[in-house]
Amino acid sequence: MKDFSKLCINNTLEEKIRQIKELFKENYKEEFEIFISSFKHYRTRAELSFYHKDDDIFYAMFDEKTKKKYIIDTLDFCDEKICNLMPLLLDYIKKNFALKEKLFGVEFLASKKELSVTLLYHKDINLIEKELSDLSKNLQLNLIARSKKKKLIFQKEILTQNLNIFDKEFIYEFNNDCFIQPNTLINEKMIEWVLTILKQETTKDLLELYCGYGNFTIALASCFKKVLATELSKKNIQFALKNCELNQISNIDFIRLSSEELSQAFKKEREFNRLKHINLDDFNFSHVLVDPPRSGLNKEVINLIKNYNNIIYISCNPLSLKENLDFLLKTHQIKKFALFDQFVHTKHLECGILLKKI
Ligand SMILES: C[S@@+](CC[C@H](N)C(=O)[O-])C[C@H]1O[C@@H](n2cnc3c(N)ncnc32)[C@H](O)[C@@H]1O
Repeated sequence: MKDFSKLCINNTLEEKIRQIKELFKENYKEEFEIFISSFKHYRTRAELSFYHKDDDIFYAMFDEKTKKKYIIDTLDFCDEKICNLMPLLLDYIKKNFALKEKLFGVEFLASKKELSVTLLYHKDINLIEKELSDLSKNLQLNLIARSKKKKLIFQKEILTQNLNIFDKEFIYEFNNDCFIQPNTLINEKMIEWVLTILKQETTKDLLELYCGYGNFTIALASCFKKVLATELSKKNIQFALKNCELNQISNIDFIRLSSEELSQAFKKEREFNRLKHINLDDFNFSHVLVDPPRSGLNKEVINLIKNYNNIIYISCNPLSLKENLDFLLKTHQIKKFALFDQFVHTKHLECGILLKKI
């Protein structure tokens, strides 16, 4: 598989749209729906390295290929809370040897109202617990420190997110170990796009793969009688169950199963303890929702989902989507195609597709 970004000449949305239209010209000839993002402060997650020179320390990024280093002062595409904190945090660390020594990375995570910071160390963080605690207090920071096999939390690590989906508000909790859609505005638009489709459809039950902490699941559940939502990561599933409670939703079964395991379960090739309270034959799936990682769907998963009439496919990689469509379009056709500029000023683009059985 090639890299979609390599096909683009520049990072403009126009160029990305042009490439997508070219890539899918044999598969889809109707209008694309396009969702644009704000240019600034859209990104809720950032990971930076630290560069140490003499006694000083700087935020930095390293180009993996060329090994070239870039000193970073600010990232104005990041959430404003991250932008505001970055200089304050660096200034504090510069003045404190214990915090500065062997510090190699930082991760910022923001929800609409909250922020957490994770500092990564090449030394035993228990030795600097007091300094970390003071930092958290003085900057009023939800702080996590990590070193090999160790983690310390100051204030809290779980953030609350409020998503506004049309006229409803949904509440989610997650932490830095979860997959998080990085652009909250676009995330809300993606969920609304799926909801708009579902409101025009006859729905029964939903099968969702790659559900994360329930980002789509929670907001879509009321459109279905029952929902079976699966995901590989234990942490994500723990938060998904909590998020069900927070939103008082009772028609979702969240199960920790990889997509490969789910395919085996459907084919009755293997029995899973995690599924012992569930009879897969009791479901009547009218819709399948998939939101896989960049690699897309493997053959087993394609063979599973092609049995269903309606497939909603959210993709962060147009090239793996294109490869998967080579198989899915033998049984289905594309009815809707949306483009979400989740990663503004980069060559990446998120796609949403509705497929219906021919
Ligand atoms: C692009 S994210 C989407 C998550 C979720 N839909 C959301 O909107 O937040 C892909 C998710 O797939 C999960 N994942 C990765 N490989 C998987 C696999 N083989 N089987 C099941 N889930 C997997 C990841 O843990 C991640 O949560």
